[in-house]
This record gives sequence, structure tokens and C-alpha cells, in this order.
Amino acid sequence: MTRVLVLNGPNLGRLGRRQPEIYGHTTHRELADLCVGWGEQLGLEVEVRQTNHEGELLDWLNTAADEETPVVLNAAAWTHYSLAIFDACGQLTAPLVEVHISDPKQRPEEFRHTSYVEPHAATTISGQGIDGYRQALEFIASGSDR
Ligand code: DQA
Repeated sequence: MTRVLVLNGPNLGRLGRRQPEIYGHTTHRELADLCVGWGEQLGLEVEVRQTNHEGELLDWLNTAADEETPVVLNAAAWTHYSLAIFDACGQLTAPLVEVHISDPKQRPEEFRHTSYVEPHAATTISGQGIDGYRQALEFIASGSDR
């Protein structure tokens, strides 16, 4: 079974309570359960993690690089300014899928229009709500035996 890490960055632990008009009503716990279930249907062993600490995300990405683990990454605000996350993503060899619940490029704040994850991602899924995570897992599953 292909192991996949779903890594969520800052403030995504507050899903369901944080600006539900933008991010919806699904909590992070519910999202994690959904991802594991979608993974089971797709033959993937999914582990979902969330952190508000950039160094912790970097450590997870470094381990994913060493272990050649596919990653679904919602780096949240770090997407838009973290060169350290750009560098960490650059060393991944298994597929990296960038996910955003909203579509940052359609939002009014200029800073959201840049992504330091996108240059290293096999694909980016934005603005699909929580279903974007399912689509990301589907993308990985479709290529996992390539
Ligand atoms: C986000 C979009 C980012 O711009 C924002 O900083 C987030 C969440 C999303 O999932 O839509 O925290 O990554």
C-alpha cells in the first residue's frame, strides 16, 4: 500500500471555527477522518498531520524526502512567503500535490497570489473546498504504480 502524508500548516487546526464562510464547517478532525477513508478506497495509507510550527513542517518534509513519501500539502499562509518550505519541497522526489481549500489567487489580498509550493508541485488543487484533498489523493493514487 502506498503511504501518503497529508500535511496541513498554520491555523488549519481551527477548521470549522475559522472563517467558515471561506473554509467551510468541516473540522480538522473530520477532515483527517475523511482523508483516511478516501485513502482506503483508493488503496492508500493516509496519515494526516497539522502544525502551527514551521520547523515541524520542515522536519516532516525532510523525512518525506528521505523516505520518498508522496505528500499532499496545504502550507496555508507559509505558502505565500516561506523560502524554507520552497527549499524543503524542492528535495521531494515522490509526487507533491498542493492543496488550498479556498482559491488564493482569486482572493483580494495580493500576498496570496504567490505560492512557494507551486513550483515543486505536480499539480495544484485550489478552491474545491475539502473535496480538494480527495482529488489530491486521487491524483496520487492514479500515478502510484507508475
Ligand atoms: C489556504 C489559503 C491561504 O491563503 C491561507 O493563508 C490559509 C488557507 C486555503 O486552504 O485556502 O491559511 O491555504
